[in-house]
Amino acid sequence: MGRGPTKKYYQVMNQNYVEGTLTCLKPEIVKSKITNEFPLVLNIEPTNACNAKCYYCTHDKVVKNQGTNFLKIDDFKKIIDQVASHKLIMLNLHKDGEPLLHKNLPEMVEYAKKKDAAQVIHFNTNGILINSNVGRAVIAAGIDDITISIDAAREETYYQFKKQKGLDKLEENIKRAIDYRDKISSKTMIRVKIMEFDDIKHDEIELFHKKWNGVADEVQVTGVHSWSGAVDVKVTDEETKTRYPCVLLWYMLAVNSNGDVSVCNVDWDYSGVVGNIYRQSINEIWNSKLLKNIRRAQLKEDWCNPSVCKQCVVWVSVGNLWEFLKEKREFI
Ligand SMILES: C[S@@+](CC[C@H](N)C(=O)[O-])C[C@H]1O[C@@H](n2cnc3c(N)ncnc32)[C@H](O)[C@@H]1O
Repeated sequence: MGRGPTKKYYQVMNQNYVEGTLTCLKPEIVKSKITNEFPLVLNIEPTNACNAKCYYCTHDKVVKNQGTNFLKIDDFKKIIDQVASHKLIMLNLHKDGEPLLHKNLPEMVEYAKKKDAAQVIHFNTNGILINSNVGRAVIAAGIDDITISIDAAREETYYQFKKQKGLDKLEENIKRAIDYRDKISSKTMIRVKIMEFDDIKHDEIELFHKKWNGVADEVQVTGVHSWSGAVDVKVTDEETKTRYPCVLLWYMLAVNSNGDVSVCNVDWDYSGVVGNIYRQSINEIWNSKLLKNIRRAQLKEDWCNPSVCKQCVVWVSVGNLWEFLKEKREFI
């Protein structure tokens, strides 16, 4: 999960989201739409496998703890069948891994579209496979929105961050995928993203803009977080602010590729698992004692339950709805 843009790179997204993020909903949307029947945003992770080695990511730790998992297409469909009557604001098909490594991703998108599961169906990808058969099939299947985490404008920066070569090839593949999208008249929105790392040079971001403005549908520059202290990076905009409850706990869930359901997609260490799709429905998990206890703890300023919340900074991005949330008794 990204943090949204910093003040320097403020940009307008659309009516539902906090600027620059596709997970953080605007306070007024939360206030008018949250319900204890179902989350508004759901992440479903097709796989936690990844083909990149980004130094700022927890992926290696995830696989060390959980092994490598692929969600079965039938299990994906069972989740979507539960979602369909609620219509999410956003269905994200990613968490810790690389979604394009799942060969059934096009079928997942097709099914979710057919069931009208969300206003926007989206995933983040490192883009390495965006022009592969799976990448093209996902575009043909009608995915609404793809964000490609390129994170560099120069080969040496790409190597520094991702520990692998191939920026040229990646850029070429993204352009080919955009051409393919246009050729088949698909409406898929293709965004590219770079992060405001402390050690990135300002001219790298300018160069990134130059390369992608007018080529991709949007150029995003987002902030960096530390996965709650798990990776050694300087967090963007880390001014100490008075902490308030994380609104994500009132509107989202994240289904991991092994079936465990986490409070949100920052939960890389699974300390925030509140249920499992093989034993419970999404509605049951959403109303579970476990999740209600976590929400209540936050309202009482206990930021350590679950432990992944302790050093997290993503709560900043949505805003302070403390007074409003206190009154929503059905969630606690
Ligand atoms: C963990 S990745 C998984 C999806 C996909 N493999 C990708 O690379 O986009 C999900 C998102 O988290 C972002 N991300 C990873 N580490 C981050 C960090 N330390 N701070 C902010 N965002 C981060 C990535 O850029 C990506 O957009």
